[in-house]
Amino acid sequence: MTHVVTDNCINCKYTDCVEVCPVDCFHEGPNFLVIDPNECIDCTLCVAECPAEAIFAEDDVPEGQERYIQLNAELAPQWPVIDARIPALEDAKRWDGVPDKLPLLKR
Ligand code: F3S
Repeated sequence: MTHVVTDNCINCKYTDCVEVCPVDCFHEGPNFLVIDPNECIDCTLCVAECPAEAIFAEDDVPEGQERYIQLNAELAPQWPVIDARIPALEDAKRWDGVPDKLPLLKR
């Protein structure tokens, strides 16, 4: 199993999650982070750290967001590892909780 970053990370990118990851499995895109399913050890530490509540165990991904399981696996090899926290995106507060942000994903 793995953990998965889902919709609400888009345009927020708080990055609190990367600080606690013991295996550096987060990869950074322009407005979204993903977890490399081949590196994640299911420690669950990142789940509670995300202010946007965007991280779920693969089996607990909310209905309608299953697409993100494949998307994390697809984008992780394409994006660089991020292992230190950086400032959230400028409008993070405004975007936090806005549904269906997938069309806004930048690659
Ligand atoms: Fe995204 Fe939450 Fe991490 S918003 S960058 S998954 S702390």
